[in-house]
Amino acid sequence: MKLKPGVKFCLFIVLIGLIGLIGFKYFKKDAEKIDNSLLKEHHISEKYASKTLEFVLKNDLYEEKYLKEYAKINYREEDDFATILTTFLPKGYQGEEINYILKLSKTNQEKLAKLEYQDIQNYYKIKNFNVDNLERYNAYYKEHKYSYEDVVTYVNINLDLPVYTNPHTVTDGNSNLVLVNKYNCLEANYTPSDLAYLKGAYGNEVPMREIAQKALVKLQEAVTKEIGITLLPTTSYRNYNFQKTLYDNYVAEDGASAADTYSARPGCSEHQTGLAIDLKNPDTPASRRLNDSDYEWLKNNAHRFGFIIRFPKDKEFITGYQEENWHIRYVGEEAAKIIYENKLTLEEYIDLYITNY
Ligand code: DAL
Ligand code: ZN
Repeated sequence: MKLKPGVKFCLFIVLIGLIGLIGFKYFKKDAEKIDNSLLKEHHISEKYASKTLEFVLKNDLYEEKYLKEYAKINYREEDDFATILTTFLPKGYQGEEINYILKLSKTNQEKLAKLEYQDIQNYYKIKNFNVDNLERYNAYYKEHKYSYEDVVTYVNINLDLPVYTNPHTVTDGNSNLVLVNKYNCLEANYTPSDLAYLKGAYGNEVPMREIAQKALVKLQEAVTKEIGITLLPTTSYRNYNFQKTLYDNYVAEDGASAADTYSARPGCSEHQTGLAIDLKNPDTPASRRLNDSDYEWLKNNAHRFGFIIRFPKDKEFITGYQEENWHIRYVGEEAAKIIYENKLTLEEYIDLYITNY
């Protein structure tokens, strides 16, 4: 029988596909081939054969009631594989769920082991998932319908909690990545130990952490060279009492709820770290800090010098403050680059890239 070339080609493709499929099945079977005598000994049908079943049989961990689950659990050659099986199967986790648990960090596995059964299917893949916050995630998700990824981050940074209630006391004041906000506040007596000075927009000498000062000098040189303007600090390091005076004055003028949208309460301003700097182009009128084109440059270049725009537009619900295009924060070049490229806030960056859960 003569076949047309097109038909021949189709048959050829089908044949290749079949060979591939058979080969795949054969190798897969081989990978899962287990000691059949073990199965016979325990009167278990071959259809349940799996590496995990072999493992529990060999290690005397086999329990008939989990027979169907063993087949679903991906075998892992790790020391704690046995512990995971014996801890979580009795809590009611199904085989698939054991696979999720195997993907969690050791810390999360340990936390989960202390709880009754929890449904973690929406969270286990999320890198900053923290078992401690599971109930809060579920409540926040119900209320807001953000993606599960966002829910995890937002709850981790405490957006589900009222601001300024039991703020965490910041102990790493000297770290370039110190986080100071409405949930994390410095002690009143915290003062950076390495203050350096730079000429300010009002002729004053503005104190700031040395590392921020050095970086700002480089940023100033670049902005002058690249767009021909000058950027000077108006304020940077502010001690607790100064911030208190500022905040109290705003409250007297505007009321606390308005003041809270643009001024930090004393202890909770990152100006107290000496790493936050307010900038001004001295060629703008007194009522303005930056021209739009100045900000355009700053927004797209600050990271080259280790700074971020700390209170950007559209992130008010995360930072807790109205947009402040003039307030930059030193975090170091590595962090600044990631924050810039991924359009993150410092809160999100620390939660996603720094904290280990
Ligand atoms: N203006 C900023 C939020 C501060 O007071 O720290
Ligand atoms: Zn500021």
